[in-house]
Amino acid sequence: MNEVDRILALREELNRHNHNYYVLNSPEISDKEFDLLMKELEALEQAHPEMADPLSPTQRVGSDLSKGFAHVTHERPMLSLANTYSIEEVDEWFDRVKKGLGGEDFEITGEMKYDGTSISLTYENGRLVRAVTRGDGTQGDDVTVNVKTIRSIPLVLHPGDWPERFEIRGEILMPWTVFNELNKEREYNEEPLFANPRNAASGTLKTQDPKEVAKRRLDAVFYYLLSDELPYGSHYENMEAARRWGFKVSGEMRILKTEEDVNNYIGHWDIHRKELPVATDGLVFKVNSLRQQLNLGFTAKSPRWAVAFKFNPENACTQLKYVSFETGRMGFVTPVANLEPVLLSGTIVKRASLHNADIMAELDIHEKDWLYVEKGGEIIPKITGVDTSRRTPGEPKVEFVVCCPECGTPLVRNDGDAARICPNKYGCRPQITGRIEHFCARRMMNIDGIGEETAELLFDRELVTTPADLYDLTKEQLSLLERFGDRSAERILQGLEESRKVPFERVIYALSIPNVGETTSKRVAKAVKSMDRMQEMSVEQLQAIPDVGPTIAQGIFEYLRDPVAVENIERLKAAGLQMQLDEDKMQQAGTVLEGKSIVISGTFSHHSRDEYKEIIEANGGKNVGSISKKTSFVLAGDNMGPAKLEKCQKLGIPIVGEDEFLNMLEQK
Ligand code: IVH
Repeated sequence: MNEVDRILALREELNRHNHNYYVLNSPEISDKEFDLLMKELEALEQAHPEMADPLSPTQRVGSDLSKGFAHVTHERPMLSLANTYSIEEVDEWFDRVKKGLGGEDFEITGEMKYDGTSISLTYENGRLVRAVTRGDGTQGDDVTVNVKTIRSIPLVLHPGDWPERFEIRGEILMPWTVFNELNKEREYNEEPLFANPRNAASGTLKTQDPKEVAKRRLDAVFYYLLSDELPYGSHYENMEAARRWGFKVSGEMRILKTEEDVNNYIGHWDIHRKELPVATDGLVFKVNSLRQQLNLGFTAKSPRWAVAFKFNPENACTQLKYVSFETGRMGFVTPVANLEPVLLSGTIVKRASLHNADIMAELDIHEKDWLYVEKGGEIIPKITGVDTSRRTPGEPKVEFVVCCPECGTPLVRNDGDAARICPNKYGCRPQITGRIEHFCARRMMNIDGIGEETAELLFDRELVTTPADLYDLTKEQLSLLERFGDRSAERILQGLEESRKVPFERVIYALSIPNVGETTSKRVAKAVKSMDRMQEMSVEQLQAIPDVGPTIAQGIFEYLRDPVAVENIERLKAAGLQMQLDEDKMQQAGTVLEGKSIVISGTFSHHSRDEYKEIIEANGGKNVGSISKKTSFVLAGDNMGPAKLEKCQKLGIPIVGEDEFLNMLEQK
């Protein structure tokens, strides 16, 4: 087999394995074997650039950056469904259908109402051409780059009876397991939590970084096929066909013939929906025959041939014991309602977050109030209201604390921000111990043996107040601590020793710089290359780092001028931590554009021209003013002048677009 044929065969094979794994949940080969095939394809594609295909399985990783999505008008508007909240209302709809069809026999399909974010995919000749969000129903955002990273969405269809051109609509979902993991990580990083998988899915889909989208492991289920040439006369058969072509289609879809069937379907799923791996907020009933759908038609807002039945979110009413205020590592103070325990969706709820001062004020909670707690699509129970009829007269309103509950320092509030912050960074216990614990955690310096409790103990015994103090600890000091023996002391010292090898990007992450999480730390490390250089950089220079916006840049700049932080860093340098990029990485980072003369022209969306100048220089290139024979390429944004364009053509100078340029830096 020649290499070109091998490429085609590998693509087909990898598509099939993707489908087996992500749609059918039954892989035939191991992950390792899959990776080997993928590597082989990547190598062959690199050797054969003429065979490039944006829909190749190698293109799922989300390589290109895009800022702002293009608006696209839907060929057929994306309508919503009429909602019902009781079996009686569904029965009324059933009767209206019966009447509308003049007594003709009809079938209904029952399916889940998936609680994600809706998406419309267009396929031409069996290939995905566009993915658009619902938007306002008439116009949506073109999110194709992100959707391509969702492994259960086929980029190229299995051979079959698909129309040459069709649209398929469905829901992008974040499975519960992924959602819970993501929130755990965000909680750790003190980033705002996603309230439910729906928000997480839509937030992810709108992310400007397709690589991040690829990491979030979204899923998608499809429920509506549209085309001028649908292969079958019923919704059910068309969806079954879509399943054969490679789409994930609701496995819970059933044909229901009578009102009783519909009611039983509701009864069953009202209980069993909790067993599904993804969030649902109801059921959808549709008239099965497409001819009958056509006869029934649409109202201005929704089809008459379909209806949604919404599940009741589970809620309970319980009494407030007290509101506690908790200060986190970065100083944010969160109000928490501590409740009389109550059973909700199978778990006992004792605490519910009140989020922030604004939300708390809006709820107008008084001491000993009876509160409604709800657990709908959300995993974290939320307080939705107060039963004021049960309020004891005279009980005072619960006010947000004005001082930090831990250290008594007056809280501050940034303009327009709901968050209240304790500014006593270096005197407030949970902030100090939180930073020590964070510094030692597995993904940062990975110092085995120092978790929350030990961090608190070390602080309370006045041994450690900043991470640098850790490196002065002696075996004697450690073995004298409660519950500590020689073994645990040695383990910590060993962990500290090994942490001296932890790479620079993780040292940055370990420092608890505001808004600098794992991904940003990597970007920053790669761009600044050393702590010394990072300490010299201006806000503008920091902002030129890919994905570092003005807030993050300002945060880094201020952090590096805070005397306590600076002293800590200097002592960490002296302790022998990695304060510069690994040499291999440094060479790569600095030399991507080595020896290149680059002209910048036009207007850009990711960075300013000045920032691009910085980026070019940071990567070893030279920014020059005018195009000549010596120019390596022109970095061109929008509206590049016609004279420059002509000159490039005349001299044969390549023109590199903004996204392509950023990709060049990313890949190295
Ligand atoms: S059918 C013309 N089926 O619910 C009607 N929609 O309120 C096309 N949804 O925007 C929609 N599961 O995002 C349909 N099985 C299902 C669904 C479903 C979830 C969402 C969809 C739609 C909204 C309507």
